Amino acid sequence: MDRIRIIGGNKLHGTIPISGAKNAALPLMIAALLSDETLILDNVPRLADVAQLQRILGNHGVDIMAAGKRPGDHEYQGQTLHISAKNIIDTTAPYELVSKMRASFWVIAPLLARMHEAKVSLPGGCAIGTRPVDLLIMALEKLGAEISIDGGYVIAKAPGGLKGATIEFPKVTVSGTHVALMAATLAKGSTIISNAACEPEIADVADCLNKMGAKITGAGTPRILIEGVGTLHGARHTVLPDRIETGTYAMAVAMTGGEVQLSGARPELLQAALDVLIQAGVSITPNNDGIKVARNGAGISPVTVTTAPFPGFPTDLQAQLMALMTRAKGASHITETIFENRFMHVQELARFGAKISLDGETATIDGVSQLRGAPVMATDLRASVSLVIAALAADGETMVNRIYHLDRGFERLEEKLSACGATIERISG
Ligand code: UD1
Repeated sequence: MDRIRIIGGNKLHGTIPISGAKNAALPLMIAALLSDETLILDNVPRLADVAQLQRILGNHGVDIMAAGKRPGDHEYQGQTLHISAKNIIDTTAPYELVSKMRASFWVIAPLLARMHEAKVSLPGGCAIGTRPVDLLIMALEKLGAEISIDGGYVIAKAPGGLKGATIEFPKVTVSGTHVALMAATLAKGSTIISNAACEPEIADVADCLNKMGAKITGAGTPRILIEGVGTLHGARHTVLPDRIETGTYAMAVAMTGGEVQLSGARPELLQAALDVLIQAGVSITPNNDGIKVARNGAGISPVTVTTAPFPGFPTDLQAQLMALMTRAKGASHITETIFENRFMHVQELARFGAKISLDGETATIDGVSQLRGAPVMATDLRASVSLVIAALAADGETMVNRIYHLDRGFERLEEKLSACGATIERISG
């Protein structure tokens, strides 16, 4: 199993290109199932989760072609995928595939909408809380699907097709909103989704679906309206930049000090996180090419933060912020409201000498003047990268084990950081 070795203490200087967003690329690829014409996606990140979803879609009969490099293409440019779901040969998504990645459960929506049936294994994915699918099922039932659960599989049928409905989510759910949105595009009549998730990735998917002929308004707000259409056609769409990767590298620079240009980043996608960094004493300068992040001389000020659905502070940056606050001048408080059990990084950060105590949903982090490198274990995707951030500023050597979690969500992490002066290398095997 690959590991990452980091020698801490170097400031970061240079440019980091921001990749396409994993959390948009995955539902966009799944949306290709809605049409028998080809969907072309540009700026798709090269990630283990994307490769895994390619296998899952392949199992349904979807052809995916990755275009080769052209002269003038940069090494870091994302890939272009041509996805054709002309012939769907199987509407079952088996346990062996779905259990590896939670988002693959979402294939249930386009399969049901277009093929009027789907049998999808209950999901697996990151071990952060129970992460049920009850609200996804509720949304599909509202749209007229008959759903049963048998042998670990959700079996969904809509013999006469789905019908438009009003879907009101009792809590904000990204997965529920994606599923309701995709399913409603091909439903007969109009659908209203209220208390919808407002995450930019939802708006990006809606944008792409509209290019495919869907009639969606209000995506990116809590109330989405969908006028069902008979069929969707092919389209070309560029995946928006990854706000979580952007925030992660911004926190890495805040941690080590130095100055880095996050190229291609869009500040409006993570304003809440940037505001927290500014409060912590980090210099954030949006410019034509993205965001410049710098911390020179000044220490890190402590902050009090509560995670919330967009536009609030994202849960996917909570672990990284906690790593940063381990070196703040005072006590910080971070409250996690989205997922239970999303504090697995606390024990690992303690191995660097961090002082963190937990009280229910809130972590109190007492900043220390120095961290020491240590062998640590990556637990989930975002927690793993928080260990990298701590290691970059720790004295001596850190070995991060089980980095397959990192490969699920961060494209060429060690290359991007070493290009900015970090001492970081992947050790294979
Ligand atoms: C997505 C993101 C993930 C991010 C999360 C919150 C992808 C691929 N993943 O995950 O990176 O951390 O949004 O921003 O986009 N819930 C239920 N019942 C359901 C569905 C969800 O109770 O049927 C709960 C969950 O347990 C959780 C909360 O709702 O407590 C939010 O989950 P949700 O927004 O659906 O997260 P994901 O879409 O799984």
